[in-house]
Amino acid sequence: MVLVGAAVGVALALVAVLIPWLPSADSQQAGEIDKVYWFVTIICVAIFALVAGVALYAIWRFRAAPDDPDDGAPIHGHTGLEIVWTAIPAVLVTAITVYSGVILTKVEDIPKDHRVVEVTGQQFAWSFHYPEADVTSGQLALPVNEPVELKLTAKDVIHSFWVPEWRMKKDAVPGLDTNLVITPSKEGTYTVVCTELCGLGHATMRAQALVMSPSAFDKWLSDEKAKAAQAGSAAGKTLFTQQCGTCHSLADAGTSGEVGPDLDKVLSGKDEDFIHESIVDPNAEIAPGYQPNVMPGNFEDILTDQQLTSLVEYLVKTAGKS
Ligand code: CUA
Repeated sequence: MVLVGAAVGVALALVAVLIPWLPSADSQQAGEIDKVYWFVTIICVAIFALVAGVALYAIWRFRAAPDDPDDGAPIHGHTGLEIVWTAIPAVLVTAITVYSGVILTKVEDIPKDHRVVEVTGQQFAWSFHYPEADVTSGQLALPVNEPVELKLTAKDVIHSFWVPEWRMKKDAVPGLDTNLVITPSKEGTYTVVCTELCGLGHATMRAQALVMSPSAFDKWLSDEKAKAAQAGSAAGKTLFTQQCGTCHSLADAGTSGEVGPDLDKVLSGKDEDFIHESIVDPNAEIAPGYQPNVMPGNFEDILTDQQLTSLVEYLVKTAGKS
């Protein structure tokens, strides 16, 4: 019976290993995760096949004849057998625990030199922030063969970050910082999947992950930065025209208000801090020839931080320059 079981076990284990069940392993961590996966799977398939093989053989070999109404002989207590079926699972479970622990320590190790990307999950989209360039993107771009630490958080409910080809997966939880180390080992385009049921749009919560050569990555990052600056500048101009243009003239925005000072004159050569103060606290310094308390002092409440930033950036860049 044991021989039959062992033969079936080996055959099924081979089938299990030879079929390509998993997506390609495209990160350094993926290979390690797969080793544990196959270690556990082969043990499980072999045990299942052994038990199922023995059971099927017993049903066929020891089945009762149609005219045999007797019960089988009762068996009670077999110390040798009990030791074997306690010891084998104990050894296997211990081996799985130790091996998993070793691999887990290895894949969660954060190397000294590594890039950081801040990942935010929110119903129903991912966003990726690159602190070194202060760039935020809807795409996750990474240079190949370089370890990156993803710092995960969520704005509303629990989400979970996963790229199947990289294997590594971790929850993004509101109010909690979790992290994940990935070393992508192959260039290509992948899909970031949310694997935690997070609401109606859960199934659509995907993002693109791009793994590229280091030089292509540097170019991507500077392109994103330029795009963001351009968008911020355009937003600043629109805001200026809507909020400030009635009272102030500024050549770049084509406004000609005369209630307040001509900004091309008074802001020429002024820095970011001065312009910011002049917007949120207009009475702090009054241009010669103008009265205090004319300009509303509540722009800090009206504008979001981001709007205020793009407005200040826009003025730094354009006032007195055309
Ligand atoms: Cu986010 Cu599911």
